[in-house]
This record gives sequence, C-alpha cells and structure tokens, in this order.
Amino acid sequence: MVEDSKGLAGVAVADTALCYIDGQAGRLFYRGYDIHPLAKQGSFAESLYLLWYGELPTETELTIFEGLLARERRLPDDLLAAFRTFDADATPMSVLRTSLSLLGQIDPDEGDNSPEANLRKAGRLVATVPVAVAAWHRVRQGEEPLPPDPEIGLAEDFLRMLSGESPSDTAAAALDTSLLLYLEHGFNASTFACRVVASTLADMHAAVTAGVAALSGPLHGGANEQAMRMLEQIVTPDAVDEYLEGELAAGRKIMGFGHRVYRTEDPRATHLREMARRLGESSGDSTWYELSRTVEEGMKARKGLNCNVDFYCATVYRHLGIPIDLFTPLFAMGRTGGWAAHVMEQHRDNRLIRPRANYTGQVDRPYVRIDRRDQAT
Ligand SMILES: CC(C)(COP(=O)(O)OP(=O)(O)OC[C@H]1O[C@@H](n2cnc3c(N)ncnc32)[C@H](O)[C@@H]1OP(=O)(O)O)[C@@H](O)C(=O)NCCC(=O)NCCS
Repeated sequence: MVEDSKGLAGVAVADTALCYIDGQAGRLFYRGYDIHPLAKQGSFAESLYLLWYGELPTETELTIFEGLLARERRLPDDLLAAFRTFDADATPMSVLRTSLSLLGQIDPDEGDNSPEANLRKAGRLVATVPVAVAAWHRVRQGEEPLPPDPEIGLAEDFLRMLSGESPSDTAAAALDTSLLLYLEHGFNASTFACRVVASTLADMHAAVTAGVAALSGPLHGGANEQAMRMLEQIVTPDAVDEYLEGELAAGRKIMGFGHRVYRTEDPRATHLREMARRLGESSGDSTWYELSRTVEEGMKARKGLNCNVDFYCATVYRHLGIPIDLFTPLFAMGRTGGWAAHVMEQHRDNRLIRPRANYTGQVDRPYVRIDRRDQAT
C-alpha cells in the first residue's frame, strides 16, 4: 500500500521559487513580493518580468521587455487559416487549446528546451494568446480579425482587437490587473499539468497546451464563466436564498466559492471585489455587484465558504463587455505567463514526475482462453 492523499491535497511534489501561498493567513507572494502592492501599483508586464527573471525590472528594463513582447504580438497565417475551418460554435477554450498545439507545431524553436529557446517561446506565447482569443471571437462572428497595435499595452490592445473600439483607461487597467492576479498560483491543477508534461522533457508548447486543457474544467478556470451564468440565473438579490438553498440541498457546488489552499479570504478576490464595486459605480449600474455581495454573504452564512478569484472576476469581465465564454480564455491569457515560468523552472532542474496510485482491483486472476469463456446470454 502506498501512502495516499486524494487529489494530492497537502502533498508537495516539487520545489518552486515562483510563488508562495499562505492559505491560513490568506497571503500570496510572487517571488517574495506580496500580491497587494503588486496589484495596486504594479502591472501585468512587470509581474511577468519578475516571474521570468527573478527581480522587479527597472523602468528601462520594463520598457525593453514590453517592446519585445509587443513585437511578438501577431496572428500567424496558419492559425488564421485553421480558424476559418472551425465551426462558429466551437468553444473559445477548445479553440485556444488547438491554437496552442498548432503554435507549437510552427514555432521555430519547437523541441528546443534550452533556457534561451524557452524564453523566446514564452514571449511568443504570452504575446500571441490575446491576439488568438480576440481573432477567434471576430472570426466566429463572420468578421475580420484586427491586426495588433504594438504601440499600446497588451490589455488595451486585446480589448481593442476584440471590439474594434479603443477601451477607456479604466477598462484597460482593470483587465491588466485581472491578468496580473491570474498570472501565477503555485501548483494549481493546470500548472501541475504543465509541469508533469514538461518533466517528460516535452517542450513548452506541449506543456502549456496541457495547461489550457486542465484550466477549462468548471472546478478550475471554468468557474468564472459558471459564476456569471449563475448570477444571470438568479437575477435579483431577493432570489439568492432560494437559489442557494436549492443548489446546496441538491449537493451541487456554487461556482466561485471554496478553495483547496485558502482557509480565509483569497487575497486576489479582495482586489476583484473592489474592482467590481468601482466598475459598477462608475457605470451607474451596480446590479451585478449587489447581487454578487448577496451571494457572497449567503455562502458565508450557510457554508462558511469564501469566494475565490473567479467569483468577482465574472462581474469585472461583465463590466468590460467581455462575452461570457471568453472569461476562461482570459484566465488563460494571464496564466500562460505563469505556466511558462513553471516549464522553465522544471526544465532547469528536471526529474520525471511520476507518482503512484493505490491499486484497488483484484490480482492473480486465472486467464481463460476466449473460446473457453462462458458466452454472455
Ligand atoms: C475549489 C474546489 C474544487 C476545492 O475543492 P476541494 O479542496 O477538493 O474541496 P472539496 O470539494 O472536497 O470541498 C470540501 C467541502 O466544502 C464543500 N464545498 C467546497 N466548495 C464548495 C462550493 N463551491 N459550493 C458548495 N460547497 C462547497 C464541499 O461540498 C465539501 O463539503 P463536505 O465536506 O460537507 O463534503 C471546490 O471548492 C469547488 O469545487 N469550488 C467550486 C469551483 C470553483 O470555484 N473553482 C475555482 C477554484 S479557484
């Protein structure tokens, strides 16, 4: 019998210097820096630099880094050609998964796991994912994708490529902060999937494709979409009690609540709640925020559960005018940088990740030739 922990709860499977989570205290650190000042004063690109290079950038370093990433922002012809063959109702997450696989196939550094090649691939991935997500959204609506604008920031450019209109500074900043909050979170399911694949010495794109696949499920990244669909179903605060009681009595999970590691408030949720409040206030419509608050209070009272990163992110993305089925691809846009950092960390000091399982079946069953087995009646 091997010692087990269902769902690997509480098991440390590797070392990492990227991110530290104190689940009891509700604290999160990227390379030792508390998430709160990073989210309040920093940017997605700055946090990405921190993860990949280990230190916060100077102004010059950040400008060069953003310029390099912006140069990689493009939609490869092969990817656009593939999009044109897909059914318009293909889900954006499955299109994204296929896109990453295809991008790996055409990447000039395919199969090269050297630190230099990994950094180049990481840059191309982070820069291309937003272009691909926006392009697919336009293609599925019968519109032409808009070319990226390397002169503006990644979050602003994504919103522009999606809708064709320049977003407000507030909208671009809100998206940038959400990407920063989604960037990295230790050995969550999708990052673990990436590291397992990377540990076979498969390359960065193969690993990140596995990350997207793992992220798509409703217990992980899919929760932000499901949280919004739930709010749409509940409609008004006075319907919250009945909804929660019915769902919980039926043994169903409430999406956007609970966490494997946090035993108190998820520090990312603190920022997203405040962003949701401010976006509601500035738009003159706090309906989604008020409804979310009521659901949050209801879950705390009934189950003692806190909301996680995905719950208020749903309301934030709603205010940014993002279609619901793009919520999880946006999570992937942020997390791609974290996945890439983990692949680089795994390749730098690799050992195959290969756990054991407890076998629960029979042993030593006598083999009976097929012509001598009793035929089923
Ligand atoms: C995140 C999650 C998968 C963590 O799972 P986990 O660590 O395996 O915890 P469990 O699913 O075993 O939950 C422990 C208990 O809390 C309850 N619980 C956890 N999350 C819940 C939720 N969202 N709604 C209702 N009950 C929940 C479980 O039913 C279980 O209760 P029990 O002990 O009475 O059976 C889980 O909280 C969940 O499914 N949340 C909803 C999906 C979500 O928001 N995912 C995004 C995560 S960032």
